[in-house]
Amino acid sequence: MSIGVCVSKAGRLVVLVSGSGTNLQALLDASADPSYGARVVAVGADREGIEGLARASRAGVPIFVRNVRDYPSREDWDVAIAAAIAAHQPDLVISAGFMKILGAPTLESFPVVNTHPALLPAFPGAHGVRDALAYGVTVTGCTVMLADDGIDTGPIIAQEPVRVLPGDDEAGLHERIKTVERRLLVDTVGRMVREGWTVSGRTVRIGNHIGGENS
Ligand code: GRF
Repeated sequence: MSIGVCVSKAGRLVVLVSGSGTNLQALLDASADPSYGARVVAVGADREGIEGLARASRAGVPIFVRNVRDYPSREDWDVAIAAAIAAHQPDLVISAGFMKILGAPTLESFPVVNTHPALLPAFPGAHGVRDALAYGVTVTGCTVMLADDGIDTGPIIAQEPVRVLPGDDEAGLHERIKTVERRLLVDTVGRMVREGWTVSGRTVRIGNHIGGENS
């Protein structure tokens, strides 16, 4: 990833979701306080009928849905979702439980922050919690990163560990991770928009801090 600098004053967020949207809710709640520095201006999804969209509607935030099934090709969907995002002029796009890899039309137009329920580079992909449990790790966690065109391969911005407890199952461990993940995502996005950030190679710096530190 090339060197880039972003200092965002407006903090317009477009959040993308595919499911329950508790990370979205955490961002909506945080942005109720103007001192947070960012606000959710639209919520996009790749499917109808999900709680994430209902959360947006209850908050009075505009929504859009672009379902891959409705387009002749994945490339057409990539263009369509990028155009839907662009219509809301975001400073940051947040992929918060969005179960699609975004294509070049979005990634080349906007910085995209992604969140993952494991300590990358361990256990990327759709089953990070299940895979960590199956491997037998005693510590896992969550990662906030910049999205690139790979599966959870972008530069890491922040991480936090979560201990695996005896008897944990996937659902229980995921809920404990998500409690930490929501706070980490809200903190990280807020700092990015308030303090600005740079990326050089795989190193992301927020303000004067080095990505990966949570101070
Ligand atoms: C999060 O753990 C996210 O990292 C993963 O799916 C979960 C989404 O949760 N990809 P929610 O929809 O924000 O509640």
